[in-house]
Amino acid sequence: MNNQVEETSRALTSPSPESLTLGIETSCDETAAAVLRGGREVRSTVVASQEELHARFGGVVPEVASRRHTEVITIVVDEALSRAGVNWSDLELLAVTQGPGLIGSLLVGVSAAKAYAIGRGLPLIGVNHLEGHVMANFVHCPGEQPAAEELMPSLCLIASGGHTDLVLISALGEYQILGWTRDDAAGEALDKGARVMGLGYPGGPAIDRAACEGNPAAVDFPRPLIEGSLDFSFSGLKTALIRHVQTHGVSSTAGGVADVAASFQQAIVDTLVRNTRQAAEQYHVRQILMAGGVAANSCLRAEMSHLEQVLGVPVRYPPPWLCTDNAAMIAAAGHFAAFRNGPSSLDMDTYSALPLAEHV
Ligand code: KG4
Ligand code: ZN
Repeated sequence: MNNQVEETSRALTSPSPESLTLGIETSCDETAAAVLRGGREVRSTVVASQEELHARFGGVVPEVASRRHTEVITIVVDEALSRAGVNWSDLELLAVTQGPGLIGSLLVGVSAAKAYAIGRGLPLIGVNHLEGHVMANFVHCPGEQPAAEELMPSLCLIASGGHTDLVLISALGEYQILGWTRDDAAGEALDKGARVMGLGYPGGPAIDRAACEGNPAAVDFPRPLIEGSLDFSFSGLKTALIRHVQTHGVSSTAGGVADVAASFQQAIVDTLVRNTRQAAEQYHVRQILMAGGVAANSCLRAEMSHLEQVLGVPVRYPPPWLCTDNAAMIAAAGHFAAFRNGPSSLDMDTYSALPLAEHV
């Protein structure tokens, strides 16, 4: 088997705009598979969401998530191949998320990918989920402008349920972390905040919807700042929300819960945009990108677009479906990483914590 993998890895040394990659993503509560051509063109994407399954618990239950992944993984993969109109023999590479994420969930995707790699004689590459989020910006979507690869250094704000990172990209595959969260991630703060306001799960989209009707200046929440650092901290803001709701309830202002949601969301967005702006100026970046589920937020997208005018630097973000977890981004990251580094060994591991790069 090792010989077979090594031989196929040699065949991967020259990138082909035609080569087809199957991506598999199971790091949290989405079972996803996608087929990409040349690491950029989406031929198919399938996402089986477990949202309803976890909604009654108010958050993801790891054991429930991994069990559901095992039930649907082969169906999702078959569906991705079928929608792309390709057979196993058309594929040149398998890419799978190996971390960070829930270990039981990751194990389902990685075990399935290893089995497919052995059974179908395909090279396999393990992908860092966070690199997948970054690479979502370089995927071609009909009607959307992808990020320009030549505009380096670029800065990417990754804001998801588990991470809030400011990533400096010197070239594809070359990253440095300029700032990260010291406690809660932005998405985690939104999810917990939504629970406090009784808006349900997942909290980010619920707050996004509720905030549309509210006044973002109704409640004066703090904009947490760590002096001399590009790091984030959202736990104090979450505590401020809990105190506000305990003291005043969620309907203290004319706009009711919509006002509280809009004000809380604005505090998070202001904090994300402030640090992104500071990093962009400090590192003279030529392009700003956004990634992760929170990058689907309408207020954040509007404020970042405004930043484009203020800084005179292009700001790009993927369409919402490429911001939240999906396998197209994993196939894209896997395609380029395989050509840089060759495929992974079949005894590769899974990692609940897997930093994308060093924090400078
Ligand atoms: O990237 P993602 O799908 O999964 C992780 O890797 O964590 O991000 C999920 C996070 C959740 O916290 C969810 O509430 C948040 O992204 N999210 C949003 C929106 N859509 C998803 N947050 C704000 N506004 C949205 N529209
Ligand atoms: Zn994610």
